[in-house]
Amino acid sequence: MKTVTTPREARRTIDEIKKAGARIGFVPTMGALHEGHASLVRMARARTEFVVASIFVNPKQFGPKEDFSRYPRTFEADRSMLADLGCDLLFHPNDAGLYSPADRTRISVEGISDVLCGAARRDHFHGVALVVAKLFNIIGPDEAFFGQKDAQQALIIQRMAADLDFPVVILLGPTVRETDGLAMSSRNRYLDPEARSKAPAMYAGLAAARSRIEAGERNPAQLAAMMTGTMRAAGFDVEYACVADGGTLLPLERIEGTVLLACAGRIGGTRLIDNVALRVSGAEVEEIVIEFPEWSRYA
Ligand code: PAJ
Repeated sequence: MKTVTTPREARRTIDEIKKAGARIGFVPTMGALHEGHASLVRMARARTEFVVASIFVNPKQFGPKEDFSRYPRTFEADRSMLADLGCDLLFHPNDAGLYSPADRTRISVEGISDVLCGAARRDHFHGVALVVAKLFNIIGPDEAFFGQKDAQQALIIQRMAADLDFPVVILLGPTVRETDGLAMSSRNRYLDPEARSKAPAMYAGLAAARSRIEAGERNPAQLAAMMTGTMRAAGFDVEYACVADGGTLLPLERIEGTVLLACAGRIGGTRLIDNVALRVSGAEVEEIVIEFPEWSRYA
């Protein structure tokens, strides 16, 4: 696996590969890699001939009081994990390599950036959209891989790519969980033993809501109250727990179609998020990974 640190080197390497006709699969990350990231690299490996991963802790997606400076950085372990997974190229820029004090461009994906996680983290998704747009321009992937774990992020990136005509297909991989249900996250490293033992309550609330929907419950307020209750009982400070439309992310009035059960909260000072996506058609309920069929024009 080759490692490059500048956009110029990344472009030069990928231009050569493209000339040879290989299709490029891309997995952007902030490092501190775990099985969730690995599953996306495997997906890329299975679908495309040349797999690129990036590791960049993007300062523009952290708020002033957030964890940018203490975000886990485990570069050597990450690099060897990516090499073992058969990744072909690692792009590892430094801040100065991607941003300049002269920069003035923002990318704002309207509406879907302001709800759920966007309500409390004002500029977070602008920072995500900007860095992913830059990475897409540098790497030029045919397919890019994201996790269902960050469903809102994936929806925003898909919208950004569609609106700005990036010729890339966005594909999602399922959320990879610990055996007790906790969604894997680089931030799980912050949890002390007590918080770690309580953290699975977030997924327990989501799974219980899914069971209630399977049993016929169709009242979003009841389901939200149940998820909130399960999290609070474990000691979570709940930021939101809601039943949203899987396309618009707005609160759902009727449980039908693509339904996103989503929650965020703090346990022992660490902010965690999780979600479960369902396709509900009458009495039929199926857990799904969100797909973007309208985007197949580039497939
Ligand atoms: P990061 O948190 O490192 O996540 C990189 C990718 O891994 C994202 O697409 C995320 O959804 C996915 N992922 C994380 N945990 C997962 C899990 N348990 N199961 C499946 N997939 C999982 O998300 C970011 O970085 C950044 O915002 C980024 C897109 C790189 C832009 O800076």
